[in-house]
Formats: sequence, C-alpha cells, structure tokens
Amino acid sequence: MKEPKRIEHPIPPLYDKESRILILGSFPSVKSRESAFFYGHPRNRFWEIMAALLRENTPSTVEEKASMLHRNHVAVWDVIKSCEISGSSDSSIRNVKANDLTQILEEGKICRIFCNGATSFKYYKKYMEAKTGMPACRLPSTSPANAAFGRERLIEEWKVICQPLRILPPGTGEVLLDWYDHNARILPWRTDPSPYHVWISEIMLQQTRVEAVLTYYHRWMEEVPDVEALARISDERLLKLWEGLGYYNRARNLKKAAGQIMKDYGGVIPSDAEELKKLSGIGDYTSGAIASIAFGKQEPAVDGNAIRIFSRLLADDRPASSGRMRKDLEKEIRRILPADRPGDFNQALMDLGSGVCLPNGKPLCDSCPFESICMAKKDGRQLSYPVKKEKKARRSYRYGVFILLKEGEVILSKRPAGGLLAGLWEFPMAEDVCSLEAASRFLQNEGIDCSDIKRLGHRKHIFSHVEWEMEGYLVEEAEVTSSQLKEKNWIRAAVEELEEGYAMPSAFEAYKSSILKGRKE
Ligand code: ADE
Repeated sequence: MKEPKRIEHPIPPLYDKESRILILGSFPSVKSRESAFFYGHPRNRFWEIMAALLRENTPSTVEEKASMLHRNHVAVWDVIKSCEISGSSDSSIRNVKANDLTQILEEGKICRIFCNGATSFKYYKKYMEAKTGMPACRLPSTSPANAAFGRERLIEEWKVICQPLRILPPGTGEVLLDWYDHNARILPWRTDPSPYHVWISEIMLQQTRVEAVLTYYHRWMEEVPDVEALARISDERLLKLWEGLGYYNRARNLKKAAGQIMKDYGGVIPSDAEELKKLSGIGDYTSGAIASIAFGKQEPAVDGNAIRIFSRLLADDRPASSGRMRKDLEKEIRRILPADRPGDFNQALMDLGSGVCLPNGKPLCDSCPFESICMAKKDGRQLSYPVKKEKKARRSYRYGVFILLKEGEVILSKRPAGGLLAGLWEFPMAEDVCSLEAASRFLQNEGIDCSDIKRLGHRKHIFSHVEWEMEGYLVEEAEVTSSQLKEKNWIRAAVEELEEGYAMPSAFEAYKSSILKGRKE
C-alpha cells in the first residue's frame, strides 16, 4: 500500500445550464488524476455503460467524453474536494473535505442526483444531503474493483438515469414490436401498404377514428384508385366522397398534392420525408408515417398517440403542445427506431395509443407492454399526462336553419370558397334567429311566405374551435322566386338527389334526415 497523501481534487465539474442529472463519484483515481478527467482507468465501465444507455458509441478521447455528457444533459463531479488517500483506494480515504454543489444546482436544471458507488453515497449523505435538500440514488460502482457487477447487471441498475434525461430505456423498441406482433390490427392499408394507400389512409385518419374511416377508405379506393384519378376528380365529387369526415381542407389538399405529384414527380409519390413535406397537406407526422410505412425509411411519426405514450412512460411534464417536447421526442424515437421495421414501430404506437394507453378515461395498463417501466403508472398518475395547456373556450354561434321545401325540392346555399366548411352546401341560415317568432319575421323580411312554418328542434355541432347552436325550421310550401334565388345565391335541389349529389357538412345531418324520412313516408 502506498503512503497516504493529502490531495486536492484536480478536475473542475462538468456541467452546463441544460444539465438534468448529476452523477457524483468519490475521488479521482490515479489514472483520472493523470489524465485530468473523470473515470480515466481503462477498466472503469462508466463510459461504456453511459454510452450504452445513451445509445452512443463509447467515447475514447476527453473531448468525445465531455461532448457526450453535454449533449445528453449529464453533469459529472465528485463528492470529495480534498482528502488523504493511498493511490486510488476508496477504503484508504481519510480526513475528507466535501465539494460545494451550490453552483451546479443553481446554474443547471438538475432534477436527480446519482452516486456512483458506496463511498460517494456515504459522503454525499454525510456532507451534502442536508445542504442540497435532494436525496441521492445510490448506483453500483462502475469501478473495476466492483467485480460482482458485470456489464449487463450494471446497465440494468443504471437504467434509472434514463427517465430524468427523458430518454427511453434500452429494449423499448423490441418490447413494442413484440407487442405489435401479437396485437396489430388488420387494416386494409396495412395489408397492401402501397404509398398511395398509406397516404390516403393517413390523411383520412387525421382527427378521425379507424372505425369511422374504413367505409370511406373502401369507397374512395373504388372510385379514386390512384394519383392520376385523384388529380382529375371534380371538386364536387371530391367533397361528396369526403362528406361526413369533416376537416374538408384535407380533401382539397389531397387533390392539390396529386396535381403536384403529376407535375413535379412524374406521377410517382416521392419516398423522401423532406420531399413529401413539399406536398399540400403533408407535415412532419404524415411525411414520417408515409416514409416509414410505405418506404421503410427510418423516420419518426409523432402524433398525439406517441406523445401520450411517451409522456406517461417518462413522466414528462412539459405541455404536450410544446414544440420542444415534440422535437425531443422525434430525436429520441430516431435513436431507437429499428432499422428493419420503422413502419411497424410507428404503427405499433398508433395501436397502443388507440387501444391501450387511452386518451380519455382509464388507460388499460394491465394490457400494456410498458406497464413495468412506465413512470406515470409507478406514481399512479397516468391521467396527469400528457400535461395540457388550458384550452381557450370555443366560440359559440347561434343559428336559425331553414328547410325551405316545395314540390320535392329544397333550397340550398353554397358556403364561401374559404374558411370553415368552404365550398360545401348548406340550408339557408341566419345568425341569432332562434325563436319561432324571430324565424317567421326573418322569412317575411326576405319576402318568403311562411304561414306553415314548423319547428324542427335544437341541434348542437362542435367543431375544433367553434360550436354551432342551431334551431331548425321547416316550411313545406316555401314560395321562393327565381329572382330571390339569384339575389341570395341560392339554388333549388331535388330532395331525392340530396344524398348523392350535394356535399353537406354533418352538422345538418339530423335536419337532412328529417326531410329524407318525410319523403319516404
Ligand atoms: N392512425 C393514423 N395512422 C394510422 C395507421 N396507419 N394505422 C392505425 N391507426 C392510425
């Protein structure tokens, strides 16, 4: 044994203002003191274990080591400022003076402290815990002296650093794919995942459940089987095929994008996510979904499902709408996306999100492959994630809706070319005309006889940002002249063609059905 010597810690702390965890060792070994950097002994497993958990290559130079820690928001220092020590032996340490962590804790965003080994933990508790007010988590030492712990066992124990770093623990991708292999839904765009099928399905599935999309999808593929047919379809037919799915700009953008594909890509849907994003209606999520599912590219597809699942898994309390959270998640998914099954990985998240890690009500954690590693489940706080920013209240509008019939025809009006429900047909409406008296007065002012006006009842329709409170009124013998039609830009439509010939928003479904039913009786 070498003579004990009093030594001052020779290495400054490594941290920056983005550091999220602090890993404390005891005191640098002889090798570390010589190289003036942490964990310098070639058989210390610290760098290898960190690289495995951070999914990076094991760094070899001091610059590579420091940059890996900064990049992943890890701070490193030691508990001892100076002590008497023989060589590198922890057990010889005497007369300890402890380091001061104040600056690191004040400048960084440290939310957890970990101690690498028993000696560091002992001195942290003795000299530091009372000052920092933060308990530390003791991890098995990565030092070569800790021979009882092999690489795999160390990785298993050190996995706990992943959650505060907001990174997914090793094995996440494999667990998810294994679950998907046993639970994937059989869906037509999965059975034949051609780029066109995947594209159309992804656009239909935005804000719409799979069950609601299936009928639309089959009808669409019968009538519009490829990009060329889509580029040629009439606007009227396009909206009719989309009628009831809502968010009609999706349909208009599909047609626009088909035109772009014909003109700029020789009729072939591009496979590159950046090229896909140049097409109308295709953003980060959809480009990632098409590139991964149809072309096998390693692209993330981060939608509400992925955000919900990972915010629960990592107990990530940033508001789900924050761009930062989405970007970090994309980066994180890129790190774990399996090269051979990126599309399956993304679709597994979609299935897990819609069938197990449910948005409203109780998630079905008993059926979840991540049950044992989910931080939200561990704290019983599944429903607290994702964190939502308070929503602005929807604006509410009140309308009288007029069903003006005569001799098997009904009056329709076309909505303006821009804005909500652009270009769709509707029954004439008047804002704030919501009593029988007001409705009669309104029609009289318009010069329309309404002696037989009847109430059709109240309906409410909720859009994403606004809601309509509607009162329906029926006039069965409505005398509307040709000049009135022209002046108001109304048309007469045959009731029997209403279903097939005119694309109408589902907001009017109940009123429309009441006259269609009346016709059959
Ligand atoms: N939601 C969005 N895309 C989907 C897909 N490809 N499969 C199932 N649900 C989805």
